[in-house]
Amino acid sequence: MTRHLKMDTPATARLLDQLPSRLTGTPMDRPDGPKKVSGTATYAHEWQIEGKTFGVLVRAPISKGKLVRIDKSSIEGLPGILGVFSDDRFLRNPAQGTANEAPIQGVSEISYFGQPIALVVAETFEQARHGAHMLELVCEADTDGVYDPEASNLSPEQPEDDQLDQGDLDKAMAEAAFTVDSTYRTPNHNSAAMEPHCSIASWEGDQLTLHGSYQMVKYNVNELADSLGVEPEKVRILSPFVGGGFGSKLGIAPEAVAAAIAAKEIGRPVCVTLTRQQVFENVMRRSESRQRLRLAADETGKLTGLGHECLVSNLPGESFHEPVIQATHFIYGGENRRLSIEVARLNRMCAGSVRAPGEAIGMQVLENAMDELAHVSGIDPVELRKGNIPEIHPEEDMPYSSRPFAAALDEGAKRFGWDKRNPEPGKQRDGEWLIGMGMAAAARVNMLMESKARVKLIDDGTAIVETDMTDIGTGTYAILTQLCCDMLGLAPEQVDTRLGDSNFPKASGSGGSVGASSSGSSVYLACQDIRGELARRLGCDEDELQLNDGKASGGGKEVSLIELLAGETIEGEGHIEPGETMEKVQQATYGSYFAEVAVNAVTGEARVRRMLGVFGAGRILNHKTARSQCLGGMTWGIGMALHEAMEFDPRDGHVVNNDLAEYHVPVNLDVPQLEVVLLEERDDWASPIQAKGIGELGLCGAGAAVTNAIFNATGVRVREYPATLDKIL
Ligand code: MOS
Repeated sequence: MTRHLKMDTPATARLLDQLPSRLTGTPMDRPDGPKKVSGTATYAHEWQIEGKTFGVLVRAPISKGKLVRIDKSSIEGLPGILGVFSDDRFLRNPAQGTANEAPIQGVSEISYFGQPIALVVAETFEQARHGAHMLELVCEADTDGVYDPEASNLSPEQPEDDQLDQGDLDKAMAEAAFTVDSTYRTPNHNSAAMEPHCSIASWEGDQLTLHGSYQMVKYNVNELADSLGVEPEKVRILSPFVGGGFGSKLGIAPEAVAAAIAAKEIGRPVCVTLTRQQVFENVMRRSESRQRLRLAADETGKLTGLGHECLVSNLPGESFHEPVIQATHFIYGGENRRLSIEVARLNRMCAGSVRAPGEAIGMQVLENAMDELAHVSGIDPVELRKGNIPEIHPEEDMPYSSRPFAAALDEGAKRFGWDKRNPEPGKQRDGEWLIGMGMAAAARVNMLMESKARVKLIDDGTAIVETDMTDIGTGTYAILTQLCCDMLGLAPEQVDTRLGDSNFPKASGSGGSVGASSSGSSVYLACQDIRGELARRLGCDEDELQLNDGKASGGGKEVSLIELLAGETIEGEGHIEPGETMEKVQQATYGSYFAEVAVNAVTGEARVRRMLGVFGAGRILNHKTARSQCLGGMTWGIGMALHEAMEFDPRDGHVVNNDLAEYHVPVNLDVPQLEVVLLEERDDWASPIQAKGIGELGLCGAGAAVTNAIFNATGVRVREYPATLDKIL
């Protein structure tokens, strides 16, 4: 049996609000939590596999040119060395979650510093590392590498789909009562997931098993099979625990392909784990950006024009570019619009999805510009935003689905004590500290992705959930368990949720904030499938069926679930597909951030004192894990505002700060008590469970609340992120 739903029309029933068991939404602890804190959750590197060998990637020592020769004899005779592998197939760049998208660049063509070009395999990790260090390479360097996206001799590409010219922005700017025309720059960011990328490949005949750390197993199987030139059926990926991804594990990385090729050759399992430096050099970066914001408003602050023109970068030939203007399209009105993205082609590592691609930096800068407009117009920043919430989509004839934007602004202002803010900068002091308050809006597009799950209701009245969905620290184990419990009337200890095995039904995976609502919907449908069968057995309508506490009732009858199962296992399959609801309405999630920042008048050091985020993302499936996502997003927002930046050597484009000592992320002392408020919302257009994505929302504008507070504290508007003290003083 399969219960299939293509989301062509909004949901008409809110079953989860009518069930006797209401675990969904509660802050239930993660069922996988005890395993994680006791070290028994097995992460990719930790699998004990008989005969395991170790591979270390060798990186290009130049940033553009040719690899002429690898002198394998240079490490012959070193202890433990089992082989040196170099193959064009390694060089498939990390794809964007879909197969066949990324170009394969031969190993002989070097296009960025640190590009993986070979793998040295040895009996131990140390031997392999030594071999990789000693291996002699002959390279021919070109002198025409390009590293600066704003270099005057570059002509960036203009992707057709990202050029919007509506009305006449120049005229709107000329006629406006208030204008802003500012250019901001944001630096490159690294996902810096706590668990470095790792793959252990082992073959049995022509069957490959890869223990890896990946976000989207269904796509990763295809990508790996495609890279190796084998059928996807021959590849199994296991990724039950993932120590953070933030986009860097959406697509397979070179280590997976290299491990698979080497393991096949030497006939033993090969484990390749990236070092932290390799994560910084080989895994995708979030592109830096230059963003010019033009806002034109009438005397009431209503936008008449909105310009958001961006320059980002990537390697030559890569199809991805940071979708900086994604939320600018729908969040505010203004009929004269110029939104565009240009892409500079550089010899720096691949740019790709890093948490909340697009909105993370796009909303941050748009919300800085809105703060500038509030300042020049004298209109309160909260009121300015509320006054610019459009009735219908400003670019397309399309309404919005549930949109608690104004509610999030009001709720945040009230809870934060926004009325105590002095709009005049530099007026509040606490000893040598200047104090300021700032706010920003949050917005992120919402999507649904195809997802499948299987639920087995076993004859003893317990259930197993199976899907190749992943839990990248986000709480998938918890929410899928909760949904299954409610739908089948079971307790959490009666449900065993199994994830991250490509042999299970193919799920959305974790990315783009689609995982919870998509995979949750598939489990919901699989359970509905089972409910249909139980209702049939009981002789009642499915609508009447009540499952609670191990009992089934309906149509005036009540029996124990075990009796109804009669020694059999009922298997239900759920299959959700996106449909027309994604095209008919603009679906998005919204929120607001409020921050109080202290800036030292002597040193320029900025310290966030408190921060609040209020978010609406449809039905919240678990208040604890959803809140944690928002805390993580806001923490990253603080990092983006004050600390984080990848620095590239202007001479050869190599990453200078390639570890967590030099790439600064916020630490405990940088993060005050954060407060998160989740609004009650149901979005029937989004999914049959009325949930939307929340994972990335907490980052979509967060940094702007901090830098807007710095302006309020000091009168200094930092337009080059991060706002380090040298820029504030
Ligand atoms: Mo996300 S950057 O789509 O994992």
